[in-house]
Amino acid sequence: MIEVSVCIGSSCHLKGAYNIIQAFQQMIEENGLHDQIEFKASFCMRQCQNPGVAVSVGRQVHYLAPEDARRFFAAEILGA
Ligand code: FES
Repeated sequence: MIEVSVCIGSSCHLKGAYNIIQAFQQMIEENGLHDQIEFKASFCMRQCQNPGVAVSVGRQVHYLAPEDARRFFAAEILGA
């Protein structure tokens, strides 16, 4: 089970967290990954100063632009 969290704090919300959530949900659906990925929204991860929306995969935090969401998911999550 891979734990994936997208920050929905106010700063990340403004940077497009909602679009990332949509893209990830779509990819989980398309790839039938409901039983392999624990997908959550999280409150502020205290990474607001970084560019992009904070997304954690396992213990690693990444910073993502919404337009990179599908590419990120394919590389970091499907590829894991
Ligand atoms: S709002 Fe996302 S890290 Fe602070």
